[in-house]
Amino acid sequence: MANRKPLNILMIGQGFMGRAHSNAWTQVRKFFDPPLMPVLHTVAARDKQKVQEFADKWDWLNCSANWRASIDGDDVDLVDITTPNNTHADMAIAALKAGKHVACEKPLANTLDDAREMVRAARKADGKTFVWFNYRRCPAVAFAHKLVASGKLGEIRHVRASYLQDWADDSVPLMWRFQKRHAGSGAHGDLNAHIVDMTRFVTGSEIAEVSGAISETFIKERKKLTDGKPGRVSVDDTVLFLARFDNGAVASFEAARQATGNQNRNGFEINGTKGSVKFNFERMNELEYYDATTDRAVQGWATIICTHAGDHPYLEAWWPDAHLLGYEHGFTNMAFDVLLALAGKKPNVPLPDFEDAYQTQRVLAAALVSADEKRAVRLSEVR
Ligand SMILES: NC(=O)c1ccc[n+]([C@@H]2O[C@H](COP(=O)([O-])OP(=O)(O)OC[C@H]3O[C@@H](n4cnc5c(N)ncnc54)[C@H](O)[C@@H]3O)[C@@H](O)[C@H]2O)c1
Repeated sequence: MANRKPLNILMIGQGFMGRAHSNAWTQVRKFFDPPLMPVLHTVAARDKQKVQEFADKWDWLNCSANWRASIDGDDVDLVDITTPNNTHADMAIAALKAGKHVACEKPLANTLDDAREMVRAARKADGKTFVWFNYRRCPAVAFAHKLVASGKLGEIRHVRASYLQDWADDSVPLMWRFQKRHAGSGAHGDLNAHIVDMTRFVTGSEIAEVSGAISETFIKERKKLTDGKPGRVSVDDTVLFLARFDNGAVASFEAARQATGNQNRNGFEINGTKGSVKFNFERMNELEYYDATTDRAVQGWATIICTHAGDHPYLEAWWPDAHLLGYEHGFTNMAFDVLLALAGKKPNVPLPDFEDAYQTQRVLAAALVSADEKRAVRLSEVR
């Protein structure tokens, strides 16, 4: 490890994703043999005291309450953005202009305009870009991608994806996630972003048209964090829509934050002419597979535990068969692929960059037009 080139990371934000990424950059050195050595160089956030405590706890070498100044530091190689959606564009564009690589949380941006500016900045820059669509790197999802690419499912005809959670009842205050100016949208940008990305990734196809979208906000006011008085919620609680892929497959998408009984049910079912796969993150180690090419008498769903090193992506680095993985492993697997890509090597499965995440953002934007105007929207209308 000592002779590997270091990669100095500046991470902005110290919340939920700040913890997930700090863990990933720490663990990746221990479980994998990455070609570059990630260094937890600086963490930047808004509150000086809190960021110091966070740096101490997670072993960041430095901390800062001024991300702009930190981005300009000569010794930073990669800027990792884990802040609310409305901040992504400013931070990413500044980092790219300063010649850094950027790994940005999803969704790419608050608005399609911001996302487009980020893509433009990435095209002009020397730095590489990555977007943390971490679910691609659950071994079961990466394996589903490989099964489809190998032709095992035949032609894909149906995609059914939903991401259901149940945390956002009226006791939850008016945090940034419920405010359009910070979040862009609600369950849509938060959850549909993941399933649009995941199904594009698994099928290897692009969405060409979106229709039938509906959006609803059930809880219209929440208590403000400042004074506890009621404040207006300006984002959706749920968005559903239909879609057509460019390979002819039809699809449905559903994101919901108040689907009682579903805590993080992020999943899909994909049906092809030769077979099908099903995934549900609440049982993230498993991929259900139906082989429609075998003798009809013995056809049935098989539950594959995707933990076999050599057959299932990333498992060489982890534990023996059925010694199960959890949420954080997807981030660590992604950190490994980012380090491979930065060293000019091929990641285990394709990594989303800004161009790629922009395609997901276009689909999300098209769904909102469909919901507003109650019509089908071709993706060519949303650029
Ligand atoms: N990949 C995933 O599965 C996943 C899961 C959750 C969140 N996210 C994404 O991660 C991002 C952050 O979400 P979170 O849940 O970690 O939020 P959070 O509220 O837990 O943390 C946000 C952090 O950003 C900091 N921050 C906010 N504005 C800032 C600014 N202007 N300058 C510097 N720091 C600032 C806050 O102090 C806080 O530390 C969002 O884009 C969200 O969509 C992705």
